Amino acid sequence: MIGPVAVILAAGQGKRMKSDKPKVVHEVCGQSMIRHVVNAAFGAGVSDVVVIVGQGADQVKASLEGISNVHYATQDRQLGTGDAVKSARSALGDYTGAVMILVGDEPCLRSGPLALLLEKQKATKVACLMGTSIAPDPTGYGRILRDTTGRFLRIIEQKDCTPEQAAIKEVNPSCYVFMAPLLWEALEEVVPANAQGEFYLTDAPEILQKKGHEVQALVTLHPDDILGINTRLHLAEAHTIMSRRILEKLMEEGVTVYDPRNTYVDSRAKIGADTVIYPFSVVDGDVTVGKNCRIGPFALIRHGTVLADNVEVGAFVDIVRSDIGEGTLVRHLAYLGDTEVGRHVTVGAGAITANFDGQHKQQTKIGDQVTIGAGSVLVAPTSIGSRSTVGAGAVVTPTRPVPPDTTVVGVPAQPIAKSKENDGRPVDPRQPPR
Ligand code: UD1
Ligand code: CA
Repeated sequence: MIGPVAVILAAGQGKRMKSDKPKVVHEVCGQSMIRHVVNAAFGAGVSDVVVIVGQGADQVKASLEGISNVHYATQDRQLGTGDAVKSARSALGDYTGAVMILVGDEPCLRSGPLALLLEKQKATKVACLMGTSIAPDPTGYGRILRDTTGRFLRIIEQKDCTPEQAAIKEVNPSCYVFMAPLLWEALEEVVPANAQGEFYLTDAPEILQKKGHEVQALVTLHPDDILGINTRLHLAEAHTIMSRRILEKLMEEGVTVYDPRNTYVDSRAKIGADTVIYPFSVVDGDVTVGKNCRIGPFALIRHGTVLADNVEVGAFVDIVRSDIGEGTLVRHLAYLGDTEVGRHVTVGAGAITANFDGQHKQQTKIGDQVTIGAGSVLVAPTSIGSRSTVGAGAVVTPTRPVPPDTTVVGVPAQPIAKSKENDGRPVDPRQPPR
């Protein structure tokens, strides 16, 4: 490993979540907590990440699929954070550089402050550098004890605090950078002499300092960054923080969001400039929206969807796994699933694709400049050729896809005949013959 390396602790179950899933696979804005932390570590410049797994290891690994340079080490029994870090030792082999240690339950960590910690450690080569934070409410965190000159003394866990210590607002976010050999040395000396009977990683800085190594604690992290998720309430708080960040970034990039508190955009979504998002709209998953689109109010755009430029999606529209071409309008109450839609198409109010045949999802293809009438049903797999029109209330079936330049009506939808008496204009088969 080239380094610096990150070790991220994620072996615990997270009992306070009251969940069958391990805590760190719960999602915040569309991605697991652990995935956010791993991304933040890579964003800060680490070459490799070692994730400590234990409870629900398979689920933790599955939630990190597709990210390279992630390694795993197993902690068989959860004997504490100090013991957890020790289990990374063999994965790191003879690596002697800087090791950043993070916990998997702080999804709002951003890469900026972590990069700063790595840089500072690189410049000073201290044995241990910790980022700390001043928390308006320090409940639950380890507190940072300093002497009268402000020099770091030790970290004390909430459960081991005196009332005076508990009043300290400077907390330990569990963001450390250690020199690997000194980290292993310190962990050998950690003993479980505390209220919880656990091997505390938080003892390691004090141990190194007492042996004459340099240890520094710098206030570098914003309280929002270090929100540790222990309960569902914390999970909701993290969601609020991350959601606001996502929307603020989009607004900086030229997207109009009228009501950020009532709009949700997934952390993986990409949205082009001059797009306007009306309230109560949800962009959920790896969605791409082009420039100058209009979304909502009350629209739901789900994973695998791409909207090209100048697309309008009206109220109560639901779109999933679909590609919508440039300038297309999808009117209120429509549903499009597994559908490829061309350019300058109008999908009328309440039109839907029936994309599930009872066993499998089926595809629908709609050409350019098509008009889909209100309340029509496109039973997939089917297709509508370019410039065709589907009449209001028509049901297009898999056995009768619509060719280009054709108007179909009725149930099941059939082409309207072009007759001579009628000057070649379409004749609606539903009209009684004259
Ligand atoms: C820890 C810190 C505390 C800090 C807080 C917030 C210790 C002793 N305390 O407390 O100072 O303020 O984080 O960052 O380190 N884990 C393992 N194996 C274990 C135990 C824990 O992998 O044996 C993992 C958990 O899955 C979790 C992370 O380590 O992702 C933190 O564990 P948690 O129990 O939440 O620690 P805190 O009590 O919050
Ligand atoms: Ca925690």
